[in-house]
Amino acid sequence: MYLVTGATGNVGGAVVRALVDAGAEVRGLSRDPGRAGPDLPPGATAVAGDLNRPETLAGPLEGVRAAFLLPGYADMPGAMAEVKRAGVDRVVLLSGSAVLATDTGNAISRYMIESETAVRDSGVPWTILRPVGFMSNTLQWASLLGAGDVVRAPFAGVRVANIDPYDIGAVAAAALLSGGHEGRAYSLSGPASLLPADRVEILAKVLGRDLRFEAQPDDAARAEMSAAMPAEYVAAFFSFYADGTLDESQVLPTVEEIVGRPPRTFEQWATAHAGAFR
Ligand SMILES: NC(=O)c1ccc[n+]([C@@H]2O[C@H](COP(=O)([O-])OP(=O)(O)OC[C@H]3O[C@@H](n4cnc5c(N)ncnc54)[C@H](OP(=O)(O)O)[C@@H]3O)[C@@H](O)[C@H]2O)c1
Repeated sequence: MYLVTGATGNVGGAVVRALVDAGAEVRGLSRDPGRAGPDLPPGATAVAGDLNRPETLAGPLEGVRAAFLLPGYADMPGAMAEVKRAGVDRVVLLSGSAVLATDTGNAISRYMIESETAVRDSGVPWTILRPVGFMSNTLQWASLLGAGDVVRAPFAGVRVANIDPYDIGAVAAAALLSGGHEGRAYSLSGPASLLPADRVEILAKVLGRDLRFEAQPDDAARAEMSAAMPAEYVAAFFSFYADGTLDESQVLPTVEEIVGRPPRTFEQWATAHAGAFR
């Protein structure tokens, strides 16, 4: 039995599907398993739990061989104490490239570093995944595309080798299913380093629409982001992408080395998710 947290999300959902495809029995954790159940593939069962309340993890962890864990919750050492108590053989933590920023004092790097520390200190064999920005972040553009053909996005000059959550799921499943990845922290990227304008161009081709990219000035980006997330996260993104403290542009061989095929392209991701933009 495998426990996957974030099972209703982009990455956790991909982990669940990869494990089920490999024939594993899976519990998918959600704060609202009634709502989550229909989204999970046959072979996966929704279970209730809240990562901010480690005591709720005891039941879901019963009889579990390996667990996939999201980062950044209120009491990561407490969550790992439950994992340890349940006798789980290994844990795979989703972290991020933010731990490698040149300024790790920002809020995003900090929560990922604290989560990694909790996992390393737990005494449970671990694997850590440090992906760059997800292709699924592009779903933020869906509402813009409902209103017109212009995509206004920040950080126009920043290249990111975005990764498809599908590939993070495949790597996570490999590390959950076999002990050969213990004690490793894997940096993960997709197959190409893209500007926001490149993503708009590919999306336009996939959707058969005449989309246009427009660089959003920093002031406008700051105002829009501030309405959607805490100020400390806005500051972290500006540190990463305006001040340049994080380089996510490198194309890395890791996904192919671990799963034996190249990572999916942005065009493949856009084709699979075209419905979300229509
Ligand atoms: N976006 C990026 O570029 C990026 C890059 C590197 C790392 N990351 C990390 O990756 C994580 C996952 O990303 P994603 O795109 O897969 O997220 P997502 O699609 O937004 O899904 C978030 C998931 O978190 C679960 N969740 C939220 N609060 C919870 C709680 N208190 N207890 C248990 N589960 C909770 C939700 O489950 P329910 O609502 O069903 O409970 C949902 O399944 C991010 O949170 C971030 O830390 C992101």
